[in-house]
Amino acid sequence: MSSLTNQSLCLKMALKMLVIGNWKSNGSHNLCESFIRDLKCNGNVVICPPAIYLANMVHKISCVEIGAQDCSSFTNGPYTGDISCELLKGIGIKYVIIGHSERIRFHHETINNTLDKVHRCLEHNIIPIVCVDDDYQNIIDKLSFNEQILIAYEPISSIGTGILPDNKYIDIISSHIKSFGKFKTLYGGSVTSKNIDSLKSIKSLDGVLVGGASLIVSEFQLIVDSCK
Ligand code: PGA
Repeated sequence: MSSLTNQSLCLKMALKMLVIGNWKSNGSHNLCESFIRDLKCNGNVVICPPAIYLANMVHKISCVEIGAQDCSSFTNGPYTGDISCELLKGIGIKYVIIGHSERIRFHHETINNTLDKVHRCLEHNIIPIVCVDDDYQNIIDKLSFNEQILIAYEPISSIGTGILPDNKYIDIISSHIKSFGKFKTLYGGSVTSKNIDSLKSIKSLDGVLVGGASLIVSEFQLIVDSCK
């Protein structure tokens, strides 16, 4: 099948909700291989492995985009250890997670770091997935609306805890975030195959950001399948 026909098929069969997997500082060569071999999907799926696996995974699973978990707030230059958006773009990365609460907690990143990284992404036509907690207004007020930006509402109390806010609350926050400029919104925090059917009934949500449950291909597959 030609890649154009393949692409049109993917678009036609695209999932209703965007499903983004964030492996955080987890994974292995074997995990990459099992996703490449076993994951079946029809689009609207992004996997964000650790940086060392980006080049291994990009373009290897049809209809899956590969995203980075962070990027440099600088352009290319003398910034040892940083991975710039130009470098990410160069290998075909289309999404970057920015401002995750773990970057703030363990690396003391600030709102200005987040804003700089969003700008670097947009300069390189990369979609920023901006993570926010209940204090989202502090960041969103400073973001000029750009239809590429995705806002992931991730209450810190829900990350890795199995405790989710109720759907009504998520819907209120997601709708409020959208009212700032029609951003697309995701929910993240303890998303699993058990709660995805309920989460996908939230009308204002455009997708989910999945941490722990994205580390097992069969579990991630159930989430992806449920979002078709
Ligand atoms: P979790 O993580 O799904 O393991 O709660 C979500 C996240 O931090 O993005």
